[in-house]
Amino acid sequence: AGPTREPIDPVRFLSNRSSGKMGFALAQAAQRRGAAVTLVTGPVALADPWGIDVIRVTTAEEMAAAVLGQAPAMDVIIKSAAVADFRPASCQSLKIKKTNQGLRLDLIKNRDILAELGHRRQPHQVLVGFAAESHDHLSEGQRKLREKNLDLIVVNDILGSETGFDVATNQVTLIGRKEIHPLPLLSKEATADRILDRVVTLLGEKAIKE
Ligand code: CTP
Repeated sequence: AGPTREPIDPVRFLSNRSSGKMGFALAQAAQRRGAAVTLVTGPVALADPWGIDVIRVTTAEEMAAAVLGQAPAMDVIIKSAAVADFRPASCQSLKIKKTNQGLRLDLIKNRDILAELGHRRQPHQVLVGFAAESHDHLSEGQRKLREKNLDLIVVNDILGSETGFDVATNQVTLIGRKEIHPLPLLSKEATADRILDRVVTLLGEKAIKE
């Protein structure tokens, strides 16, 4: 859940507007259904939910280490975090002082945690990703589903005023290998339950195949 923070110097970082609400709602909904839940979260202003193991991380690298370390023991992995795609090439140890010139930041690419999960996925595992989109929602969702080897992707419109980042509601489309389910505008808690309904079906389908 949540954003990651990529440090620039001792006081500054690159991040995004993710609040962690969707990921926390998913963790709580899964716990209520009887799952043993581990929640890996970036920096958010939300308290640890009851009955859930919480691992707090800051950077994308720390999130990758925590998530990939936990992954082999999991039946279901849901990647709702807004991981920073890039980080500053180096973090200055002293505060960057202003000069009369502009400032150029060199960025390097972070690893794609979800794609790595997809490549290492065990046959019984259900892997769910999110897609934060401002345009071409369905085709981008389908591309990420395929390229990251997912069972399900939750496509979010980040430009809507009641959907996406840092609001209480969401309006998403669930895209699976064979189907597309647009959901109505719902609270993030109700959206979490609809995603988990689909996850339960996928778990059942995999159990039959085994
Ligand atoms: N994700 C990840 N690691 C990254 C970037 C993204 O695990 N370094 C995951 C997100 O948690 C999400 C999914 O990949 O489940 C899609 O994230 P999104 O930001 O929509 O897509 P990107 O793959 O980063 O592509 P783009 O930003 O170009 O749309």
